[in-house]
Amino acid sequence: MQEYTNPYLRLEEGRAVEGLIRWKSPSNIAIVKYWGKFGQQLPRNPSISFTLQNAFTDTVLQYFPKASTSKGITLKFNFEGAPKPAFEKKIKDFLESLLPVFPFLQQLELHIHSTNSFPHSAGIASSASSMSALALCLCSLEQTLFGTLTGEDAFLQKASFVARLGSGSACRSVFPLAAIWGASPSFPFASDLYAQPIGHHLHPVFQTMHDDILIVSKKEKSVSSRAGHQLMEGNPYADSRYRQAGSNIVILSRALQQGDLETFGQIAESEALTLHALMMASTPPFILLNPKTIEIITTIQQYRTDTGKQVYFTLDAGPNVHLLYPDEIHEDVITFTRSELLPLCEDGARIEDQAGPGPMLIRE
Ligand code: PMV
Repeated sequence: MQEYTNPYLRLEEGRAVEGLIRWKSPSNIAIVKYWGKFGQQLPRNPSISFTLQNAFTDTVLQYFPKASTSKGITLKFNFEGAPKPAFEKKIKDFLESLLPVFPFLQQLELHIHSTNSFPHSAGIASSASSMSALALCLCSLEQTLFGTLTGEDAFLQKASFVARLGSGSACRSVFPLAAIWGASPSFPFASDLYAQPIGHHLHPVFQTMHDDILIVSKKEKSVSSRAGHQLMEGNPYADSRYRQAGSNIVILSRALQQGDLETFGQIAESEALTLHALMMASTPPFILLNPKTIEIITTIQQYRTDTGKQVYFTLDAGPNVHLLYPDEIHEDVITFTRSELLPLCEDGARIEDQAGPGPMLIRE
């Protein structure tokens, strides 16, 4: 954290400030996955993701002068219009941990209101969108109070750094289209500390890539990502996995630049199945897939064989399937999805999404 530690970001005595900041920030889907971490949320291997647009968190941060001079964070947190004590505790602890970076937070009373564009019970991890939205609000607050984050690059780099501390994958959500997080020889500027944008590096076919999320189960997953990352420490395949991710980044990066959908699809599917294979090879082992997940995957592969259309899948740390395909076959894929995939989803649920422009500051 020392990279951004700044004891000077304190309000001078008697300065009373009050206001509101609002950011909408999207989720992202990794093609090369981050699975395994060390130190303070540092990745064991580099990852690349698409930034989505329809699955987002909308966060409003209100700040007022603090009535008392007590140390620490004073926070009220509302989720979807109602208090959520469990989330409030998590966010309060996170903000406390950020005091070396944003010491002024303990001089304010904070009210945070957060809503998701997707149903909370859709079995979709919201940590990437929620932590990136919160990080962006905090950086905007610093800029409003101190004017210290004027350049867009510096602003987004710090937001990505802060989001990473909240949830590793969240650091990739602050950039439009696509991002890389983690040092890699293919991207000399890439860092373990924050993500970097690679949207400019994408062939046009990938700039409008679709990702429809097929909801296989709305239940919260039985093993958290935090526990899953932890279990990589004793995983006998860990070292070769980290090496494989490194070389997949090199191959994927070339495919993204050249518009090579086939190589992209091979990497996406292999990464998804490897992620779940690593879970099954952990001690203790665990399974987050569901029989319907496998049925959807084989249906997608059969459709590809029968039609030659470039539809691929990936998975997150859960049973839901992400359907990846280029915009030019959108109509065909919607028809296929309706007839063959939605009957396999819980209550026929799906979220249609695609690569998007990244977070948005909402000015009221
Ligand atoms: O950001 P976390 O700690 O919830 O980890 C997420 C890891 C995966 O979603 C499974 C992969 C990734 O790179 O997003």
